[in-house]
Amino acid sequence: MAVDLTDIATVSTEPGELPPTMAAWVIRAEREGEPKDAFQIEEIETPEPGAFEVIVRVMAAGVNFNNVWAALGTPVSVFGYGDHPEYGHHIGGSDASGIVWKVGEGVTRWKAGDEVVVHCNQASYEDPEVHGLDPLAAPSQRIWGYETTWGSFAQFTKVQAQQLLPKPKHLSWDEASSYGLTYFTAYRMLMNRGAIQAGHKVLIWGAAGGLGVFATQLVKAAGGESVGVVSSDEKGELVKQLGANDYINRAEFAGMMRTGNETPEEEKARFKESRGFAKRVKEILGDSPDIVFEHVGKATFPTSVFTVKPFGKVVICGATSGYNLDFDVRYLWMRQKQIVGSHFANAYECLKANELIDSGLIQPVLWRTMGFDQVAEAHQLMHENKHAGKIAILVGATSSEEGRTADGPGAIRAEVGA
Ligand SMILES: NC(=O)c1ccc[n+]([C@@H]2O[C@H](COP(=O)([O-])OP(=O)(O)OC[C@H]3O[C@@H](n4cnc5c(N)ncnc54)[C@H](OP(=O)(O)O)[C@@H]3O)[C@@H](O)[C@H]2O)c1
Repeated sequence: MAVDLTDIATVSTEPGELPPTMAAWVIRAEREGEPKDAFQIEEIETPEPGAFEVIVRVMAAGVNFNNVWAALGTPVSVFGYGDHPEYGHHIGGSDASGIVWKVGEGVTRWKAGDEVVVHCNQASYEDPEVHGLDPLAAPSQRIWGYETTWGSFAQFTKVQAQQLLPKPKHLSWDEASSYGLTYFTAYRMLMNRGAIQAGHKVLIWGAAGGLGVFATQLVKAAGGESVGVVSSDEKGELVKQLGANDYINRAEFAGMMRTGNETPEEEKARFKESRGFAKRVKEILGDSPDIVFEHVGKATFPTSVFTVKPFGKVVICGATSGYNLDFDVRYLWMRQKQIVGSHFANAYECLKANELIDSGLIQPVLWRTMGFDQVAEAHQLMHENKHAGKIAILVGATSSEEGRTADGPGAIRAEVGA
């Protein structure tokens, strides 16, 4: 059935009742590939909430790198995970702001009409890890809108009640939808896994990207100092505005990037460039970094391990350039460095991090707000690294002004691009 894109912001029911169908951007197994082709709009049955679940009317949705991976079907296809085998479709989207529309049995903290943002971690409340260790350790742990369907690129989304957080009143719908996944991930990486302390020095890769804009602000808020790596001077200026001491344009050290196919001579030359980079980092920070904030992976990991201070930590949550990492391990053991994995954040960390947004200490960084018809295009831009900061998609909201009900600093609008 053809979907009327002119009417996405209108729903035919009041809170408490769901319309039978909704418009959604859907990826299907047979069209995995470039985001511009993999995402297509379809009319889908609106899901009903199960026990402890909530249906949220999506007012705006945030774009993340995970649904670039979902579109491409690499490194693994999402269709083998979570509830995908049950439904056969992938409605992506791991960030949303919206209005609680219908609550399932057992939900007491939220009611129809509440304004919320959604964090993207799901786990079964029956798993003991959820109650004594960390929901991220639970066998049932999934990222909503990536490892599950019913994400936010649709008029309605289905979430667990524990995923809901109060929407900061001073943010518009698009601003509120833009930060959750990357900000909460950066928060756990630095505050929990990296155990940052006042005075710590931090090297941040991709500092003008989705994770980086928040890592940079968090280091400053924690009393630390940072240097951000970026690929243009425009992005560098943004990073300085967000609180970094300075930036390094990685084009100056292009030779330090590991491809994995280097001959011994080429590796020697590459390592020399890494040394030059580490020296520059030290000059900017006054010392080697206590923490390296990693998510680029293969290309940068040997440099990260080399550059971090003795006894320092490389905290890693992703691998945009490749996930088979190799590095000279002598620098790890001789200098007693640590490599620490990190993945998203638990509900309590999300709540605490959200309070910093609520208080205005941390601000969302929005590069672009796009229409519902531009979901595929937004992911294609991200795939081609033609963005800075975050992209938000208007779904129920019709403009960037909607949704703000209190005064406050709002989002930083990043005026940089490819
Ligand atoms: N595990 C988790 O919970 C979690 C959460 C969020 C994200 N992630 C992962 O982390 C990665 C980054 O996410 P993001 O939202 O920050 O993406 P993003 O907005 O695309 O930002 C990443 C930045 O990394 C830099 N970069 C990309 N390729 C590079 C390369 N080959 N060498 C050096 N720098 C490179 C780019 O900055 P410059 O071009 O300016 O250098 C880019 O802006 C993705 O792989 C994502 O899937 C994981």
